[in-house]
Amino acid sequence: MGFFHGSVNCFDNCAVNDLDIFTQRRSVRAYLPTPVPDALLSQIMATARLAPSGANLQPGVFVAVRGAVRQQLSHDLVQAWREGRQETEDYDYFPKPMPMTLRRRQVAAAQALYGALGVARDDRAGRDAQFERNFRFFDAPVALIVAMPHDFGAGGYMDLGMTLYGLMLAAQAKGLSTCAIGAMASYPSLIRQHVGLDAETKVVCGMALGYADPDAPVNQTQTMRCALDEYFKVIG
Ligand SMILES: Cc1cc2nc3c(=O)[nH]c(=O)nc-3n(C[C@H](O)[C@H](O)[C@H](O)COP(=O)(O)O)c2cc1C
Repeated sequence: MGFFHGSVNCFDNCAVNDLDIFTQRRSVRAYLPTPVPDALLSQIMATARLAPSGANLQPGVFVAVRGAVRQQLSHDLVQAWREGRQETEDYDYFPKPMPMTLRRRQVAAAQALYGALGVARDDRAGRDAQFERNFRFFDAPVALIVAMPHDFGAGGYMDLGMTLYGLMLAAQAKGLSTCAIGAMASYPSLIRQHVGLDAETKVVCGMALGYADPDAPVNQTQTMRCALDEYFKVIG
C-alpha cells in the first residue's frame, strides 16, 4: 500500500529518505537515563522556533523543569490526580460531545497504547498506572512545560502547534524522541505555582524529550492515520 492510499501505517510505507524524520517520529513514553546536553537542547529549541507564525508573533513559552522543582511538580500532579482533584482548564481541547468518527480514532489510539503494554480494557489499575506516568513526564531526561500568554485565541494555538511539531522533528533529526503531554493541561494552577508562571499565562501542555528506550514495550505503540481522501480532495 502506498503512502497516499488507504489507511496508512506511516512507519512501514515510506522509503523516501528526506521524509524519514516525519515517518519515523512517534510518541515515545519510555526513555533511557542518558542525559541530553544543554547545548543540544538549546539547538533543538532554537530550531523549533523557526516555525512560522501569524505576523511573526511567535507565541508560546517553554520552561524546562529540573531537579527539586520537577520532583515536587510531578509529586503534586500525581497526588492531585490520585485524589481526583479537578481544575478549570485554560482551554478546551476535545469536541464535546465527541462525534463517533473521532471517538473511534481515540479508541484506536488507546488500544494501540494499552495493547503494546499488554494492559487489558478492564484493567483499571494498569491503565491508571500508565496515565500517571504522564505526570512524571514519562521519566524523560528533559521535561518541558509549554505555555502561552492568555490573550491569544485559536490562532495562537495554531502557531504554537507548529512550533511543537518543529520541536518534535528537530529532536527526531538529532536522534531524540518526544511525547506531547496534554494531560498536564488538567492542572494549570498547580503548574503555574510550581513553575513560577503568572496567572495570565495559559498552560497548554507538557513535553517529554530524550533518548527512546528501544526495549520498552510501550514504545512499540503504533498508530495509524486515516485515508487521504478523508481529509484531502481536489476540486476543479
Ligand atoms: C498536543 C498533544 C497532546 C498529547 N497528549 C498526550 C498525553 O497526555 N499522553 C500521552 O500518552 N500521549 C499524548 N499525546 C500523544 C498522542 O496520543 C499521539 O500523538 C497520537 O496517538 C499519535 O501517535 P504518534 O504520535 O505516535 O504518531 C499527545 C499528542 C499531542 C500532539
